Amino acid sequence: MARTIGILTAGGDSPGLNAAIRAVGKAAQRAHDMHVIGFRDGFQGLMQNRFERLDGDSLSGILTKGGTVLGTSRLKVHRVDMGDGDRIDMRPMIQRVVDQHDLAAIVCLGGGGTMKNALRLHTVGIPVVTLPKTIDNDVYGTDTTFGFDTALGIATEAIDRLHSTAHSHHRIMVVETMGHNTGWLTLGAGLAGGADAILVPEIPYSVDSIAESILQRKAAGSSFSIVAVAEGAMSGDVRTEHDRLKDIIDGDDDDAAEEAEAEIERLHQSQSRSTEHVADALADLTGLEARVTILGHVQRGGTPSAVDRVLATQLGTAAADSIAQDQVGVMIAMRDGAATPVPLEEVAGRRKSVPLDHPWIESARRLGVCLGD
Ligand code: F6P
Repeated sequence: MARTIGILTAGGDSPGLNAAIRAVGKAAQRAHDMHVIGFRDGFQGLMQNRFERLDGDSLSGILTKGGTVLGTSRLKVHRVDMGDGDRIDMRPMIQRVVDQHDLAAIVCLGGGGTMKNALRLHTVGIPVVTLPKTIDNDVYGTDTTFGFDTALGIATEAIDRLHSTAHSHHRIMVVETMGHNTGWLTLGAGLAGGADAILVPEIPYSVDSIAESILQRKAAGSSFSIVAVAEGAMSGDVRTEHDRLKDIIDGDDDDAAEEAEAEIERLHQSQSRSTEHVADALADLTGLEARVTILGHVQRGGTPSAVDRVLATQLGTAAADSIAQDQVGVMIAMRDGAATPVPLEEVAGRRKSVPLDHPWIESARRLGVCLGD
């Protein structure tokens, strides 16, 4: 009897998800004679057994679509909030769904949170395979994630467009990009768009040093500046507190972790207008006008780039192959151009930050781009 694969998409949506769903589904059917069902709205739909059959027709015409045709959600499978303060481990319920469909595996398309959920399922014997998607490019163990290239293009185009207006008005243009707690997107778009200062979470910044670099540009005859700020960028002292809380969250004490999560949430809220604060401080310190552009979710929307479509397709077909060979409990990573299964234990709970000696950082420094330090 033909075996069945389940697919779901979880976490923030990202360009390339539909290309990956299509690749998993078509390869499973055509190369391995398997059936495919899609669970709606991520792990939520999985535990509620909300699904649709993904046959030839439903997989056609979605390659170029943005978002995810399956819908998505964010939750932790072992601690689902029931709305009354109670948190329930949903893995037994998920196990029943897996048994009911006799699933060979569930392919989970997602970022860091999804890797953690997938490992939680794997540890109780539920067969999973994951694919790394996120515009943040921060999934550990893979060279790249699908969605990143598209977002990089969108952010770069925005910076290009800000250049001409910054120049015309002799202004500081502060542009905030996504990227969660890593600076891949901001650094890439900042370099591609010729930003004068690039602030990433990996390098705590000082507003004084950014202002000084803008004043040096002004003294050299350039009366405008582009400052690209990652949403997770932090000043030195905020960073120290953040790292302290993060260590508690990543530790073994669940109660302390819960408290630290609440505290870090408050810290993030207090930081939510930090890009505006940077702009205000730069205007004060330099005497130039400053304006803020927050790119936000536009970076995640729309059709995937060719690079993301190819990446999602390569990883998706490899996921189907992996399941056909009964190789589960892995993320299909992209390594040196090859789709490579990596045990989930090596990936989940870790983040791929920008190394401080990364060639992009080195190039930025050689160009005289201010990195805030
Ligand atoms: O992980 C993708 C991402 O877009 C991050 O860059 C950003 O911090 C977050 O998701 C935004 O989440 P939401 O869509 O829930 O606002």
